[in-house]
This record gives sequence, structure tokens and C-alpha cells, in this order.
Amino acid sequence: MSATAEKIAPLPGDIRLMKGQHPIVSLTAYTTPMAAAMDAHCDFVLVGDSVGMVLHGLPSTLGVTMEMMILHGKAVARGLTKAMMVVDMPFGSYEESPQQAFRNAARLMAETGAAAVKLEGGRTMAETIGFLVKRGVPVMAHIGLTPQSINTLGGYKVQGRAEQAEAILADAKAVAEAGAFSVVLEKIPQKLADRITAEVAVPTIGIGASAGCDGQILVVDDMLGLFTAFKPKFVKRYANLGDEMQVALAAYAEDVRARRFPGSEHVFADQAPQKDAKK
Ligand code: KIV
Repeated sequence: MSATAEKIAPLPGDIRLMKGQHPIVSLTAYTTPMAAAMDAHCDFVLVGDSVGMVLHGLPSTLGVTMEMMILHGKAVARGLTKAMMVVDMPFGSYEESPQQAFRNAARLMAETGAAAVKLEGGRTMAETIGFLVKRGVPVMAHIGLTPQSINTLGGYKVQGRAEQAEAILADAKAVAEAGAFSVVLEKIPQKLADRITAEVAVPTIGIGASAGCDGQILVVDDMLGLFTAFKPKFVKRYANLGDEMQVALAAYAEDVRARRFPGSEHVFADQAPQKDAKK
């Protein structure tokens, strides 16, 4: 391989081996251009079911379907050459039985080209995770605040405080022992995230967890300031593209109303310009 060889997308096993080496960088993406923009910066890109809230205006992730995940998974795959792609299993596509989970995970991987799927749940999903992994489906687990369960969790509250901490630790151990290659820790106390990171063998990917996790993930529209309906405490805004977009949209509307757009450089003459005779 030459010194300038292109980076090859990692596989789940490579991500697993990054624990204790260097921090794992990841973001969500839902479209080809956004995936292409982050490809060189991320180790993996998640086609999150947050797509339902961020792009489709749904009130939660519960209404997200397999068809939506496949459509957005295919779009993201077209933008990636260097980063690994993980696709979320939507609510209702895996909880019923390991067999149902396998059918839908296999479909997601076959139709989108994803290297792995992510599903929410700890000890209750351990059997399903083992079933999938033994049949060729790499699984990223997601514990702590699991947004598909907001109706039983009672909203988007911090999980794992005080006496709940042992239960979340048990979830992390159960999914790792079942064969998950990594585990997302969402909205749990920092100390608990650090303890899980120290005690489980697979990489922890934090979102609202701790800088000590093995990696971090954010919803891209949150960190770019494109999704402004609300901002969770754990989101750091790296840009305010939503504000910049408003400035551009208002300028366009003003130009059209004042007949300043299109300008002479944007319109076409009756005759095509003469080609330079010397060329
Ligand atoms: O759906 C999603 O975007 C996620 C991340 C927030 C981890 O699950």
C-alpha cells in the first residue's frame, strides 16, 4: 500500500479494537451531501432514527418506519467512502422476537449496505443481540436514555442516577457479553459513564455521558445549529447554520421582490456567445 493510499472504511471489529487506543468520532447523517461532508472526519456515521424528528417533523422517534430507515440509509451510503455506516432499527422492528429482529436487521443491511445495526435496550435485548451477532449481524447497543421508550421512561430524563446506576451498569455488561461491538450511553451521569467505560470490554460511545467515553456521537443538525426546535444540554453548537440560512433566505426573498434577482449574469442571451476563433 502506498503512503497516500485512501483510508478504507473500518468494520465493526476495527471499531471494537479502538477501545483504549484513540477516541472514536461519530455523527448522525440522513442525506448524501451531509454524509459526504463528514466522511473524512468520522470513524462511523449513524443513520439515526432521530431522522424522524430532525427531517420529518415527527414529535418523537416512535413513528419512524423501516422504509424511512432504508431510504435514508441508501442516501447516506452514497456519501461515504471512508467512514463505517450503522443504521438504527426503528421502534417495533426488533422487540417482538430475535427472529423478527434478524429479518429486519438483515433487510436493513442488505438494502442499505450498512456494516451494522443499532438497537435500543440493555438486559432485555441481550438475547436478541446474541441471536443477531451469531447470524452475521454486528450490533451496536444503546442504553441509558432510550428515546424509543420515552412513554415508559416518562420523558427525556437523565437515566442512571443514584440507585438506578447499578441497573444501567448491568445493561452495559449484558449487551457487551451478548456480543455487541460497542454501546451508546445516552444521557447518564458522568461518573456512571466512566465506570461503564472502565468495566466493559467494548467501546462506549457517549451522548450526554462523559468525555471519558471511548467515543462521542452527536446529532449533526444539533451541532451545526440547523435543528433549533430545542437544544439538549449535552449538545455543543459548533456553528449556527440555521441563523445563516435565515439571512440567506431573507436576502433572496428581498432580491426577488425588488427584481434584483436574477441579474444579467444569471440569464441567457438570444444567441450563444461566439467561440474564440483561435481556440
Ligand atoms: O437516533 C439517533 O440519532 C441516535 C443517536 C442520538 C445516538 O440514536
